[in-house]
Amino acid sequence: MRICRTPAEMYAVCRELRQAGLTLGLVPTMGALHQGHMSLVAAAKSGCDAVAVSIFVNPTQFGPSEDYSAYPRTFEEDCRKLEAAGVDLLFAPVAEDMYPVGNTTLVDPGEIGRRLDGASRPGHFRGVATIVTRLFNIVQPNRAYFGQKDAAQVAVIRNIVRDLNLAVDVVVCPIVREPDGLAMSSRNRYLSIEERKLALVLYQVLSAAAQLARSGANADAIRDYLQSSIAASPDLRLDYVAVVQPDTLLAVPDLSAGALVAVAAWVGKTRLIDNLLLPPGLPEA
Ligand code: PAJ
Repeated sequence: MRICRTPAEMYAVCRELRQAGLTLGLVPTMGALHQGHMSLVAAAKSGCDAVAVSIFVNPTQFGPSEDYSAYPRTFEEDCRKLEAAGVDLLFAPVAEDMYPVGNTTLVDPGEIGRRLDGASRPGHFRGVATIVTRLFNIVQPNRAYFGQKDAAQVAVIRNIVRDLNLAVDVVVCPIVREPDGLAMSSRNRYLSIEERKLALVLYQVLSAAAQLARSGANADAIRDYLQSSIAASPDLRLDYVAVVQPDTLLAVPDLSAGALVAVAAWVGKTRLIDNLLLPPGLPEA
């Protein structure tokens, strides 16, 4: 696996691969890699001739009181995992090279970037849109792989790819979960043993909501159920519940066309998110 440290080096190596006629897949990450990330790598391996992964804890997507400096950094271990998975190229720049003095251009995704996580984390999706657009420009991949785990991020990225005519296919991979159902996340390692048990509530209420939807509950009933059941867990602090159209992140009036059901809550000092997609055609009362 070749490790590139600067945008210029990464750009040159990727251009050579493309000129050799290889299809190039990109998996953008912030490191602290787990099986969720590795599922994207596996999808990229099977869909592309060459696979590039980026590891960059992107400062512009963290708010001032968020966990940028505490974010887990496990570079050596990450490299071993990527090497074992057969990744060809790793892009691991330092912040000073990605954001040198004078680098001031931001990509603002607009309204969609202020919905769901964008509402509770102002500026977050502008940071994500900026770094992802730049990674796309440096690597110029044929395909880029993202996880359904970050459903709002997927909607924002699909939007910027469409709005800015970016020549990349966005591939979305399913959420990888722990055996008990907790969605894998780099932030799960912040949880104490006690908090780890409490965190499971998110998956449990989503599963129960899906069951309610299958037995005919409407969109408002699903929202009410999620809201009240998370509020009833004294150790969780609700951030949002959403029953929305997955591409626009706007609330759906009914479930006939399917919906994204998403939740975010704090467990102690850790903010966790989870979601599921309801298929179209559910029996609504
Ligand atoms: P990060 O949180 O490291 O996630 C990198 C990719 O892995 C994202 O597409 C995310 O949705 C996916 N992922 C995380 N947990 C997953 C799980 N349990 N199952 C499936 N996929 C999972 O998301 C980011 O980094 C950043 O915002 C980034 C896109 C790299 C821009 O900085």
